[in-house]
Amino acid sequence: MEPKKQTIIFVLIAVISTAAIVAGVTYVILAPTPEGEVDALEIYHWWTSGGEAAAITALVDEFIALHPDTTVQQVQIAGGGGFEMRVKIKTLMLAGQPPDTFQIHNGYEWKIFYDAGLLNNIDPIWTTALKAAVPDVVEDISKGPDGHYYAVPVNIHRSNVLWFNYEILNDTGIDPATLTTWPAFWAACDAIIANPNYTITAPVAMGEQWTAAHAFEQVLASVGIDTYEAWINGEIDSTSATHYADLVTACEIYKTLTTYINSDWAGKSWDSAIAKLLAATPTAAFAIMGDWANGEFFQAEWDHGVDYGTIGVPGTGNMYGLVVDCFEKPKNILHPTAVDNWLGVVASKDGQDAFNPLKGSISARTDANISKYGAYQQSAIADFNTIDASPTSYMFPSVVHGSGAPEAFNTDFIPLIGALTSGTATASQTATALAALAATYSSDFIKTWSL
Ligand code: BGC
Repeated sequence: MEPKKQTIIFVLIAVISTAAIVAGVTYVILAPTPEGEVDALEIYHWWTSGGEAAAITALVDEFIALHPDTTVQQVQIAGGGGFEMRVKIKTLMLAGQPPDTFQIHNGYEWKIFYDAGLLNNIDPIWTTALKAAVPDVVEDISKGPDGHYYAVPVNIHRSNVLWFNYEILNDTGIDPATLTTWPAFWAACDAIIANPNYTITAPVAMGEQWTAAHAFEQVLASVGIDTYEAWINGEIDSTSATHYADLVTACEIYKTLTTYINSDWAGKSWDSAIAKLLAATPTAAFAIMGDWANGEFFQAEWDHGVDYGTIGVPGTGNMYGLVVDCFEKPKNILHPTAVDNWLGVVASKDGQDAFNPLKGSISARTDANISKYGAYQQSAIADFNTIDASPTSYMFPSVVHGSGAPEAFNTDFIPLIGALTSGTATASQTATALAALAATYSSDFIKTWSL
């Protein structure tokens, strides 16, 4: 339901109530709470693919089971990565018509609303038990610069996953465990193109611009976690010799990657890119995508380790790229009590264990019931725990998905990778332009990451 409509309904209820009082009627049919709050909840999100929709439905069902009197309205705004939805949210927030609650990526991405004073602090949701259950790296990005909490994480997605169609790899004689370097990966791609049992000319499925930038982030991490760290700290410029050289190398590797992708990438949604692996006659064997892709394999009833498989993107096996979705409580909303209830369910073990097995992500809580998760996610949970505990393994936050670096930096970064992908910019031009961004947005970097 649009906020305006809600306002209209609310006004109508007020009119009915007032009319009843004026007419001397002693009861009110739709009694608001003492604060004048109607028991309803409007949730904005961008989860519209098969796996995504199943996951949010399971979470909403969990909420309804606990709060059956609340009328829930989901507002789904299609567009992977949330780029379309955030335009709408910004318009509503700045117009003083905030949605009750909305999905966003945790960290920098919600800072624009924090800076404008439009978010409620939600410290009461962050009980001692929740703090104990959520990994520090995720808890940390849920806080604003003032030290208070402004977000409730619903999951942890892994960004650096290489997905593959097992049948094609088996038929081509490729052992996925050997795909740990880019040269090994290029050789596998060449072998698939040459395999006469398939007519695959573009073995790597790629989608629209943000998915290209997503792939670039993984390439950059593969070149060196120190360089990735410098990048998200806004420290790479053309004078930072070592890191700049790595940035150029990453652009060159990425350029080679683009020689293996579908030419219609720019018009493909992320899930239609994944569908290339899933088709009865597949047109791609690999995809670099966050593990929301697992929801699509799950919906297609493919078995992990049999029909499809996963490894870390070449060079990132000891890394976990972090993408964290969360929910907000804006100020001046119509249904604050329902939002508190919603955030409580989002934060809960049961809520997360209903949502994440379908979503492809792992729970943002370390006390998840692992038996509820499928084979891919059980392996992801094991990797997360190993990487978290090891001093020589690394978590790295995504920029494309709103946590790693300021939003304005991200907004300019994505089209630069689009130009590199389409061939309108060379690797060296792209590296120069990327390095210049750090200076342009230097005052926006408010966090120093130590990966
Ligand atoms: C979100 C995921 C979502 C994906 C595709 C990512 O940015 O974090 O939850 O499934 O975009 O829409």
